[in-house]
Parts: sequence; C-alpha cells; structure tokens
Amino acid sequence: MNDLAGKHIVLGLTGGIACYKAAELCRALIKEGATVQVVMTAAAEHFITTVTMQALSQRMVYGSQWDAREPNNMPHINLSREADAILIAPCSADFMAKLLHGRADELLSLMCLARPLDKVPLLIAPAMNREMWAHPATRRNVAQLTADGATVFDVGQGDQACGETGDGRILEPQELLDDVIAFFQPKTLAGQHVLVTAGPTYEAIDPVRGITNLSSGKMGFAICRAAREAGAEVTLVAGPVSLATPRGVRRVDVRSARDMLQAVQEEAPAATVFIATAAVADWRPANAADQKIKKDGSGRTPELSFVENPDILAAVAQSPRGQSRALYCVGFAAESHDLLANAQAKRLRKGVPLLVGNIGPATFGQDDNALLLVDEVGVKDMARDTKLSLARKLIAEIAIRMRARG
Ligand code: CTP
Repeated sequence: MNDLAGKHIVLGLTGGIACYKAAELCRALIKEGATVQVVMTAAAEHFITTVTMQALSQRMVYGSQWDAREPNNMPHINLSREADAILIAPCSADFMAKLLHGRADELLSLMCLARPLDKVPLLIAPAMNREMWAHPATRRNVAQLTADGATVFDVGQGDQACGETGDGRILEPQELLDDVIAFFQPKTLAGQHVLVTAGPTYEAIDPVRGITNLSSGKMGFAICRAAREAGAEVTLVAGPVSLATPRGVRRVDVRSARDMLQAVQEEAPAATVFIATAAVADWRPANAADQKIKKDGSGRTPELSFVENPDILAAVAQSPRGQSRALYCVGFAAESHDLLANAQAKRLRKGVPLLVGNIGPATFGQDDNALLLVDEVGVKDMARDTKLSLARKLIAEIAIRMRARG
C-alpha cells in the first residue's frame, strides 16, 4: 500500500531514549510513500546521530535555525511551508511544555510556532517516564496542546528504559504509522458507533472437535480499521481468528453463533451502524457431547444431527432499533454463484438497507476481494482491490447513505 503517497512529513526528534524508534518510523513512513524531512533538537542528537537519520530519510537533517544552507536563511519558514504535517516523535515532556508556551529558541519549536495553523497539522507522539507522563503538569500540557489544535497520540504501556513499568513509552513504529495514516483519512463517520461481526463461528461437536468454515476475518477487521480511521468508535465481535485487533478498536471474542448473538445484542443498543461480515455457521450439532466421542472399534461413525443457528443480522435488523433510523444495518453475502440475484434476494430477506455481495471461495483467506453493493436504488460494483481499500470505500458509501437518509 502507499497510504502516504504524496505526503511530505517533517519528522521532529526531541531528547529521549525513544529516538531509536524514530529511525524505524522514518523508514516506515517512506515505505508507505511519504517523503520525510528530519529536524532534530540538540538533545535528540545525544540519543541518535544525524548520520543515521540522513541515511534513512535520504535528505540532509536540520538542527539549527542558523543553518546557512537555506539561501534565505529561514529554515523554520521553508521547512514548515512545504510540510503536510509536522510529526514530533519522540516528543519529550520538556518539548511539550515548550510548545505549549510558544517558545521558539531552537529550530524545531520555532518551526512549530511558525507553521500555518490551518494548513500544517502538528502531530505529537509523547515519550517519557511514567511519573513524568502522570504528572499534573504533563496532563495540563496534553490538554492544552489538544485545545490548541495539536493531535496528541496515545502512549504505550509496559517496561521503560529506566527500569520502571507503566504508561509513557512511545508507541511502536507500526502503531505510529497506523495513527499517521488514520489522521489523513476523511472523518466521514465522526460521532458514529460502528458494531462489526467478523470471522467464522465454531460449533462444538464435543470438547475437542467442532465445525467451522474458511472465513479468515480479514474483511471484517479491515472494515473495523477503516471505520476507526473515519472517526467512529468501533466495537468488533470476532469469531475465532488470530488476527491483530486494529488500533483503537474494542474487541469482544466469541466462539459459537449463539455467543456471537449474545455479544451483539449486548452491544447493539449503543451502536448507530451494524455491519455483519461474520460467516456465521448456519447449523450447529444438535447435541454437543460433554466428553470426547471415542471410537469403539466397530467402525461405526457417530450420528450427527444439526439444528439451525439464530440469524444474527436478521435479528438485529428486524429489532425495533434496527427498524428505526437509530441503527443502519449492513449485511454481507458470501455466495458461490449468481452473486447479483442472490445478493438482491438476501437484502430483502434480511431486511437491511444495504447488502454487500462477494464470492466466498474467491476471497476467503485472501488479502483482496471484489464487492457488489446492492441497495434499494440499485447496484454498485467495486472492482478487485485490497480488503483495506475496499473497506475504506465501503465506509465512505455507508456514510453517504446515512447522510442521505438524515
Ligand atoms: N448472518 C448472520 N447470522 C447467521 C447467518 C448469517 O448474522 N446465522 C449474516 C452474515 O454475517 C451476513 C449475512 O447474514 O451479513 C448473510 O450471510 P450468508 O452466510 O451469506 O447467508 P445466509 O443467511 O447463511 O444464507 P444462505 O445460506 O442461504 O446463503
């Protein structure tokens, strides 16, 4: 993916041991298509060399407002005018205090003060000891910087270089990258609460065996990420899959269709959008055995009989909330053939305004997919693409439809 293609990021480093992670972050930003201009404070140079950052960014590193390489001798103006964002990672407690007061006694803070507020967003990735992070002065500074328009990213939790354990570590480079990418996505679902089901369900035959299906959960997880990037609060009810939870998404793990129904019913009252991507098992063994079913040596096989599972999507869509404007329901259809006809019939059967068809065998486990959106107005094709790209387009389509119905 090239989610940052065309973006020019000024990456500011301030003094802290987390500077070693800025090297990896710089690479990750470039890999995602951005160009990166590094600016370092004198304190940062105690932790990592300009040589390292120059080699990784493929550009001269700036560190002084008296840098004569700029013909007009105004690096603070030149560097900030060409940036799509200034990202300070790591941002020390001291530097946050400095930004807060509009101090400008070295290049990086001078540049932050001189940036056009409406054009160049300031992104801050704090990194400090847990006591410093918890200190009332830092709490005040975070609140004020946010009020002044900066975006202050979360901190990580865990072992710190000082030997203590707690909040205040810088996020991992991949997490910061995800947050930067999310920052640039349009906030089409701000204020919404999206509930998503994803993955297969597992229906027990006995304590060691069960039936399930080939759904990987990737499409549903991509939708969660896209909804979060679009500014929504997101709750994911996931069947048994081992995928990492997208950043900022609350996850509830379940196993069977009945567990999934219960979790969804608990979460649905707070949701404003419900997207059912889970490949819910249609049937479960009628009588799951409490103990492992043993072979008796006769060659006889166990008699399995099945009962139908509850239809989670239909239950939610046909509930009073699903029938009202308070909850917008989106179904998926995993088909093997006749996609359009099956998707249209399924939309009516489930009672949902929007149904998204895909060919199950062509997409299960893959990183790409092709979608067919069916609503009361008509049909829209989404050509084969990565699941994340399709998820972002689908979220945009959902936002348009929600706005249209008021
Ligand atoms: N679904 C659900 N609960 C079920 C079955 C399906 O919530 N017990 C949801 C799926 O998450 C999906 C939609 O309903 O959003 C359609 O699922 P699909 O498996 O394609 O269809 P089925 O309802 O199982 O119908 P059929 O077996 O006839 O294709």
